[in-house]
Amino acid sequence: MAAGRGGGRRGVTVALLLLAALTPAGAASAAALPVVINTWAFRTAAETAWRVLESGGSELDAVERGCGQCEIDQCDGSVGYGGSPDESGETTLDAMIMDGNTMEVGAVADLRRVKNAIGVARKVIEYTKHTLLVGESASLFAVRMGFPYEDLTTQKSLSLYSEWLNQNCQPNYWKNVVPDSSKSCGPYKRREEVTYREEHTSSQRSVHNHDTIGMVVIGVSGTVASGTSTNGAIHKLPGRVGDSPIAGAGSYADSTAGGAAATGDGDIMMRFLPSYQAVEYMRMGTDPTVACQKVISRIQKYAPKFFGAIICANITGSYGMYFVLQTKFLDPN
Ligand SMILES: *[C@@H]1O[C@H](CO)[C@@H](O)[C@H](O)[C@H]1NC(C)=O
Repeated sequence: MAAGRGGGRRGVTVALLLLAALTPAGAASAAALPVVINTWAFRTAAETAWRVLESGGSELDAVERGCGQCEIDQCDGSVGYGGSPDESGETTLDAMIMDGNTMEVGAVADLRRVKNAIGVARKVIEYTKHTLLVGESASLFAVRMGFPYEDLTTQKSLSLYSEWLNQNCQPNYWKNVVPDSSKSCGPYKRREEVTYREEHTSSQRSVHNHDTIGMVVIGVSGTVASGTSTNGAIHKLPGRVGDSPIAGAGSYADSTAGGAAATGDGDIMMRFLPSYQAVEYMRMGTDPTVACQKVISRIQKYAPKFFGAIICANITGSYGMYFVLQTKFLDPN
């Protein structure tokens, strides 16, 4: 495992693989607005969001277009179509977007056959009084909103799926079942005795199958917007939804305090509402890097082997990040 921190301008060099950040050119200090930060080195996403702000778009537009760029680019295969096939070989998408002025959230989960998940999430804010739509019904809503209905499967996702079938469906997310899920494919039946202790091995859960784009944008006036987009955990059970589309888990934005976005082992992270917690720390005046760090250490107390990263920015434009990862990930490639 490795742990690290980064903040302000240092964040860009210390954590090259973990954070893309754009702040005004020639800014004397890290605290300058606007700020665009996102998880991982998805720099084209940050640049797209930045251009939206430059051309007079809103913070919400910037988040939508920035994360949407990753959906088009299929960032790391973990965002957008053609990645992370579930147990039945299908790619499904989760996304959210949050307006830190009104505290409105639009989100979709288990979205099928529609590529622009964060675009649909935005439409949930604009055209409904709801917050979260899921599954096939979310797809029907998307089609009604004018999004194309298309296959998300690609040669790449098909081959990931067939490799997985060929290696006895390893890894997978079942436990306490027969036949033994650590050795065989399903269909599984439940075992009578249940062990509650969770065991995570690094081979089962690696950061490579949990990347997500999470983005925080703070405009010159201090308006905060945030969003996420992902195709979730590879080989997940159909119907599984992680932290990304959940407000306060995947991301959180509050124009009176700041914004945060988290990525990593979503099944664990969503239990702690890390993005909400980080924003609350910043509201109390905690430095963004320290806020990120405190959130991660709280989760580690319960799940020592969990991996994840969180990015935090406050409304005066300081930002930071903190992460715990398998050291393997830090190797180039
Ligand atoms: C944002 O963080 C910086 C660095 O810790 C701090 O100096 C500044 O006061 C913070 N801004 C707010 C509004 O808390």
